[in-house]
Amino acid sequence: MCGIVGYIGHREAYPIVIKGLQRLEYRGYDSAGIALYDGNNIKLSKTKGKVSDLKERLENEIATDGTLGIGHTRWATHGVPNDVNSHPHYSNSGDLVIIHNGIIENYDSLKKELIKRGYTFKSDTDTEVLVNLIEDVKKNENIKLGKAVQVALNQVIGAYAIAVFDKNKPNEIVVAKLGSPLAIGIGEDEFFIASDASPFIEFTKNAIYLEDEEMAIIRRNKDIKVRKIKGDAIVDPYIQELQLNLEQIEKGGYDHFMLKEIHEQPDAIFDTFRGRLLSNEAMVKLAGVEDNMKKFLAADRIIVVACGTSWHAGLVSEYIFEDLARIPVEVEYASEFRYRNPVITEKDVVIAISQSGETADTLAAIKLAKSKGAFVFGVCNVVGSSIARETDAGAYTHAGPEIGVASTKAFTTQITVLTLMALRLARAKGTISSSEFRHHLIELETIPSKVEKALKSDAYVQTVADIYKDATNFLYLGRGFNFPVALEGALKLKEISYIHAEGYPAAEMKHGPIALIDEQMPVVVIATKKGHYEKVVSNIQEIKSRKGKIIGIVTEGDKSVKELADHVIEVPETIECLTPLLTTIPLQLLSYHIAVMLDKNVDQPRNLAKSVTVE
Ligand code: G6P
Repeated sequence: MCGIVGYIGHREAYPIVIKGLQRLEYRGYDSAGIALYDGNNIKLSKTKGKVSDLKERLENEIATDGTLGIGHTRWATHGVPNDVNSHPHYSNSGDLVIIHNGIIENYDSLKKELIKRGYTFKSDTDTEVLVNLIEDVKKNENIKLGKAVQVALNQVIGAYAIAVFDKNKPNEIVVAKLGSPLAIGIGEDEFFIASDASPFIEFTKNAIYLEDEEMAIIRRNKDIKVRKIKGDAIVDPYIQELQLNLEQIEKGGYDHFMLKEIHEQPDAIFDTFRGRLLSNEAMVKLAGVEDNMKKFLAADRIIVVACGTSWHAGLVSEYIFEDLARIPVEVEYASEFRYRNPVITEKDVVIAISQSGETADTLAAIKLAKSKGAFVFGVCNVVGSSIARETDAGAYTHAGPEIGVASTKAFTTQITVLTLMALRLARAKGTISSSEFRHHLIELETIPSKVEKALKSDAYVQTVADIYKDATNFLYLGRGFNFPVALEGALKLKEISYIHAEGYPAAEMKHGPIALIDEQMPVVVIATKKGHYEKVVSNIQEIKSRKGKIIGIVTEGDKSVKELADHVIEVPETIECLTPLLTTIPLQLLSYHIAVMLDKNVDQPRNLAKSVTVE
């Protein structure tokens, strides 16, 4: 969590850093700060609240030609969100200034040592400990900043992406990375630093992504020196050409990123299967699967590890893999899996699903699975992310940047990739006939236009949202492939509207949640024609007899549910395993409209962050 930005070059740093922070706000937004240096004076300003609060505060103050700047947007770990705990932090002498994304686990013992040596601390943060540790090393050993950073980081346990500069060295920023992402943009005589490439995309397409345990010394008008933090090895960095463009990270006329991303799903799903789904040739091509087919075919089972919405996509895939490819699947919360001494063997295939590719628990689960000899396959959205690099092989979703904290297009594109994988494996194992296989491919190809159609329910979903926006609880029910969709629908509502919502398998309702149902309780029931339709209709009857308010998500033209439900929202018909790609659409829209009507911050819901790089 937390976003970091830095600039050193010939331009004013302030506009670049402040805009960069706004683009990185998805990573955390409970406080923000900036430090600008013109070679004589450091202007440091920080505040609790959003980057817009910082900007407002600075609007009349910034009169600097500071061409070196660093900035930070925070998701608090150590110390409550307040002005003092916000970054950047000074060292005791006032010479060093640091920003940090991550967590220093042994900060307490380091702090005690530093206190013994006379250091004092203004904040409760682990970051202030780190900057003073660097200062202490630098002074004691009489070494340069870069070397001091290296020595200090060798004493640190935890995760970090840091940028630090020294008042006595106005032409240098030192950065380092372990566990948290750090990209360096390379322009003409200028360098950019950021947690992802979005802050510098309009300035350069060339970037270096530091690997774990690497640091770089960045010198104005000169070069970048990358080296290992442990040992003395110099690294020849790989300069990557970025595929991202500015349009992708702007709202493009929508009120919120979340709404834009919901509407991008037809294209995002298409982009995800483009070149991989070849219905004319009756083929699915996924290089990561193809190259490792033996491992997949020999697998005793698949273990899916993920968090949040990605975990829900994993649950959908359990139904799909088992149904099509007849491979047993277990779906695990990465945070539980990593700590419970799981039984993993070399015959397991582990699939790690992550939009950001940076989720700390998922990353740790991958490392654990690899250490036990399992083959680990990644399904990530962010190209070059830590999880993409850590896994043995993988398949990207091609959703494009997802900026709204509540995940939408990442979910549907993850399901798309996982479906392609299941189909490919089913074909290889012979668990699906060639005509069924072809039928599935043709159906999957029609999904983007069907999602487009499902999005047309928007106006009606708004009416429904208006009726139920003041409810204090919601229940979401679904069965089979759509049980995880019910979980995801409930999660979306909780995340952005702060209304309590629970997702449940429809038939389990009578073992508990039915006690909650009264005339105040809206119950969203996914009741598409395929699957256990009649059973779900019976569940709807049970809700009706207890006077619950029923919002049915049904297949176009449905009559039975319409007679029972208070409202029905139609989605186009498709084969059962693909229904989650459609039923999820009205649920995303419902939560979006309720949150807007309640005047909540849709793109940056309280307490959440998009990229959870702490466990
Ligand atoms: C956070 C985000 C969720 C996301 C989860 C997992 O909680 O707010 O939207 O589903 O992390 O993230 P990942 O990037 O691993 O999919």
